[in-house]
Amino acid sequence: MKHAQIFKTDDGSIGLYNKELDEIYHSREGAQKESIEKFIIPSDFEKRTKNTSCVRLLDVCYGIGYNSKNALCYYKNSDIIIDALEWDFELVEYSKTADFYLSEINEFLRGEKKLGNLKINFYIDDARKSILKLNKPYDVIFLDAFAPNKLPTLWSVEFFAQLKRLLLPDGILVTYCSAQPVRKAMSLNGFCLGKMLDEKNHSYVTIATLDEKLIKFPLDEFELGLMNTKAGIPYRDENLNSSAEEMFKKRESEVKNSNLKGASAYLRKMR
Ligand SMILES: C[S@@+](CC[C@H](N)C(=O)[O-])C[C@H]1O[C@@H](n2cnc3c(N)ncnc32)[C@H](O)[C@@H]1O
Repeated sequence: MKHAQIFKTDDGSIGLYNKELDEIYHSREGAQKESIEKFIIPSDFEKRTKNTSCVRLLDVCYGIGYNSKNALCYYKNSDIIIDALEWDFELVEYSKTADFYLSEINEFLRGEKKLGNLKINFYIDDARKSILKLNKPYDVIFLDAFAPNKLPTLWSVEFFAQLKRLLLPDGILVTYCSAQPVRKAMSLNGFCLGKMLDEKNHSYVTIATLDEKLIKFPLDEFELGLMNTKAGIPYRDENLNSSAEEMFKKRESEVKNSNLKGASAYLRKMR
């Protein structure tokens, strides 16, 4: 593959590494595990397929498709319609043959097998362009972009405005990312925010909804406070076409000129 190198993750599933960004596409602990723990479970995906006849999913950053493939596995419960955004065509093609525990999902992706009423539409372009073509709202949105400090383009206030436009009132947006500028960008768009807690009570994953009743674990006062320090100054991309460099520069200058408390001062005060 042009941009990605393959490695084996700890659960035996395939992961990818991007040399240009020095960034992994999948957790070293397990690509398949990560998809289940950070997207399928937090979105209550299985329950949604049991409670409704059709679930519409927007998969932003399809990559080699773990999140979409795991969602498609619930095809016996309900119809599932996926719009998948990814700019690297090679990855989408690779996903159709890459090892997956349910081989019939790959057969479906290759068009060799019909499974229930599943549908998946691929949009191969910058997700910031593709998203402007979408108009029908979704029950679930997965956002699995590269980390914001590597590539901020899909974490801006303006991109979240598009995701909000496309989320149903009882829909749910899930991302693995809990960075402060990301949470702040969601909050500036009026999302209610939640998280998942691991066995040590540490927060991972951010959940954004328009209906606070859907949030099981809301962000606590400490987390909300941290988001409102300089650390939470969000990325901006007014016309959804800035380069990463421009976005980093703009944010840096905002941080420099801001009167907000710094994160370290906030942490010292809260200890
Ligand atoms: C962390 S990986 C996602 C992994 C993926 N969900 C999977 O299951 O394999 C991030 C993906 O986002 C894609 N990407 C990054 N920026 C993008 C953009 N602006 N538009 C579309 N795709 C983008 C990359 O090509 C990469 O496949």
